[in-house]
Amino acid sequence: MSLYSKRARALLLGGALALSCVALPSAYAQAPGPSPAKIAVESRKAEFTLIGNFFRWFGAVARGNAPYDEAEAKKRAERIVFLASLLDESFPDISNVGEPDSKAKPEIWKEKAEFEKKLAKFKDDARVFAEAVSKEKGATEGFKTAVANLGQDCKGCHDSYKVK
Ligand code: HEC
Repeated sequence: MSLYSKRARALLLGGALALSCVALPSAYAQAPGPSPAKIAVESRKAEFTLIGNFFRWFGAVARGNAPYDEAEAKKRAERIVFLASLLDESFPDISNVGEPDSKAKPEIWKEKAEFEKKLAKFKDDARVFAEAVSKEKGATEGFKTAVANLGQDCKGCHDSYKVK
């Protein structure tokens, strides 16, 4: 073995040892990287961003600004149903205060039961919405009503629980 690779090995070993000494005591308490609170905020914002992106098209179709497409409606609605199912885990108590990037109001945790009711309703309504928009097969009155109904959930929750 050359001198160079011996040194490299020693360095690597030393580095790995140093890392494990630092990482071991807290390895199970908290993984390295962003704090659990930051992860929760980033997750819910990502979830809502995607929900918004998938939902926007329905508004455009309802207003006559985009053509109805059954496969597209089904795909987007199913994704909203899935994304809505992730939200339950995205408002843990630890993400309540001190997260500057969050627009979540403290009322979410003060009125936890109320908020959870709104979340549960949103999940149910997303499923009803997904069924309706694929059944309608066009930008019918039924389609428009389904879009408006789910839109009411967004607005209703934002009015109470999201900073403008
Ligand atoms: C049960 C409550 C609730 C419902 C229902 C809800 N939202 Fe939100 N939404 C929030 C909260 C709270 C935030 C702020 C999250 C944060 O910043 O921590 C948010 C944030 C957002 C954001 C901004 C994300 C970002 O990156 O800052 C978008 C876009 C959004 N919601 C779209 C929607 C759409 C579209 C719907 C309906 C299809 C919807 N939301 C339904 C509570 C809700």
